[in-house]
Amino acid sequence: MINSSSRLIFFVFVLLSASCSKTDTVIPGTVKEETPSSTADVYAAIRAVFGNEIDPANLANYANQGKPSYIIKDNTGSNPITNPKATIGRVLFYDKNLSINNSIACASCHKLAFAFSDTALVSNGVLGGVTDRHSIRLINARYGDESKFFWDERSVSLEKQTTQPIANHVEMGYSGLSGRDNITALLAKLQKIGYYNELFKFAYGDVSVTEARMQECLAQFVRSIQSFDSKYDAGRALASNSNQDFSNFTAIENEGKRLFMTPPVFDANSSRIGGGLGCNNCHRAPEFDIDPNSKNNGIISLARGAGQDLSITRAPSLRDLVNTNGIVNGPMMHSGGVRDIATAISHYGGFINDNANLDQRLKPNGKNVQRLNLQQSEIASVVAFIKTLSGKNVYTDKRWSSPFSLN
Ligand code: HEC
Ligand code: HEC
Repeated sequence: MINSSSRLIFFVFVLLSASCSKTDTVIPGTVKEETPSSTADVYAAIRAVFGNEIDPANLANYANQGKPSYIIKDNTGSNPITNPKATIGRVLFYDKNLSINNSIACASCHKLAFAFSDTALVSNGVLGGVTDRHSIRLINARYGDESKFFWDERSVSLEKQTTQPIANHVEMGYSGLSGRDNITALLAKLQKIGYYNELFKFAYGDVSVTEARMQECLAQFVRSIQSFDSKYDAGRALASNSNQDFSNFTAIENEGKRLFMTPPVFDANSSRIGGGLGCNNCHRAPEFDIDPNSKNNGIISLARGAGQDLSITRAPSLRDLVNTNGIVNGPMMHSGGVRDIATAISHYGGFINDNANLDQRLKPNGKNVQRLNLQQSEIASVVAFIKTLSGKNVYTDKRWSSPFSLN
C-alpha cells in the first residue's frame, strides 16, 4: 500500500510541477489536498521510518570525504561512491529485513562500537546459526591493493562479497537450502517496502530492487567507512615518509614504528640477529593493508573445533585494532584465538606453525620458521606503535550509524 500510494503521490507531483510551471490549470481528477507541498511528502515513507536521519534533499557526504595525500592504494574499481547509493547501503546494512526471520542485520556481526567487528569469538546468525570464523573489522576496506575479500579471499570483489552473507545459511539465511527461501524472495520482500521504493527511485530513477543494485550500494557504504584521524596520521602528515621518526610520537612509539617497518636480519638458522620485525612486509604502511601476495601467517587453527585451515591469506587493515580507550575491539585473526596485541606479536616471534601454504618470508632459510628472539621491551614498543593507528571519529560519525534510530 505504502508503495503504490507513494508512487501515486510522486506521479501526481511530477505532473503538477511540470504543468504548474507553465499554467495554473488544475489537472482534472486530481484532488487539491493531495498536492505535495514539499519533498517531505514525496518521501513520506523515508520520513516515517528515518525521521531526520535521512534527508533526501540533504544527504550525508559519502562521496567526497577527502583523504590524506599519502593514502594511495584504492580498490574502488568501477563503482565510485555516490551519496544516494551509499545512503541505501547504510539502510541495507542496518536492516534486519535482510535476514530470513527479520532478526539479523549486517550490523549484528559488524558493530559500529567495535570498528564494525564483533567481540564474540564467532558471531550468531539466524535461527541458532553460528559463523565458522571471527567477524572482520570493516575499516578502510577501500584503501588497499587487495581487491579480494574474506579471510581466504574467496570473493573476487567487495561487490560480490556483500550479498554472500544474505545467501549464507547460518548468517542471514536466504540460502534456498532446507526449505528456506533464496535471495529472489528477499528481493520481492524489499520491493514491497515503501522506503526502498523511494530510495531506489531516488538513486536509480526506478523502484526496482535487484541483487546487483544491492551489491553496488552495500559496497559503496562499506568503502565509505574510513578512519584517518589517528595519532599516526597526525605524525605522518608532518613527516616526508613513513620511516622517519614522527615528531608527535614518544620515543617508545617511534621505536615500535622502526621495529614494525624494518625487515629482520637472520642467521643461517632463521634466527634473528638484528634489524626489525618485518611486519611492514605484509601489513604495509601507511594504509596498513595486506600485501596481496601474502600467504598464511602460520595461524592455521579453526575458530571452532579441531582441524586445520591453511587458506587464510587476508587481514583487514591494522588500523583501529583498539578503541578510543586503548582496548582491543575484539579477538584477532580468523580464529579469534589472539586476544591482545602483545600475543599477536609474540606469535611471529616463535609460534608459527609450518605448513604447505605458509608465507615463505616467515621461513627465511627455507627450512625453519623464523625466530625473532623478541625482547619484552620490543613487544611493548610495537604494541605502543600499533595503538597509534587508531582513530576516534569512526565511532561517532552519524553517517555510519544506524538510520533506524526512531524504531
Ligand atoms: C552472522 C554474522 C554476520 C553477518 C550477519 C554479516 N557478516 Fe560480514 N562477516 C562475518 C564473518 C564471520 C566474516 C568473515 C568470514 C570469512 O572470511 O570467512 C565476515 C566478513 C565480511 C567482509 C569481508 C571483510 C574483509 O576485509 O575481507 C565484509 C565486507 C562483510 N563481512 C560485510 C558484510 C555485509 C555487507 C553484511 C550484510 C549484508 C554482512 N557482512 C553480514 C560475519 C557476518
Ligand atoms: C608474511 C606476511 C605477514 C607478516 C610478515 C606479518 N603478518 Fe600479521 N598477518 C598476516 C596475515 C595473513 C594475517 C591474517 C591471519 C589470520 O587471520 O589467521 C595477519 C594478521 C595479523 C593481525 C590480526 C589482525 C586482525 O584484525 O585480526 C595482527 C595484529 C598482525 N597480523 C600483526 C602483525 C605484526 C605485529 C607483525 C610483525 C611482527 C606481522 N603481523 C607480520 C600476515 C603477516
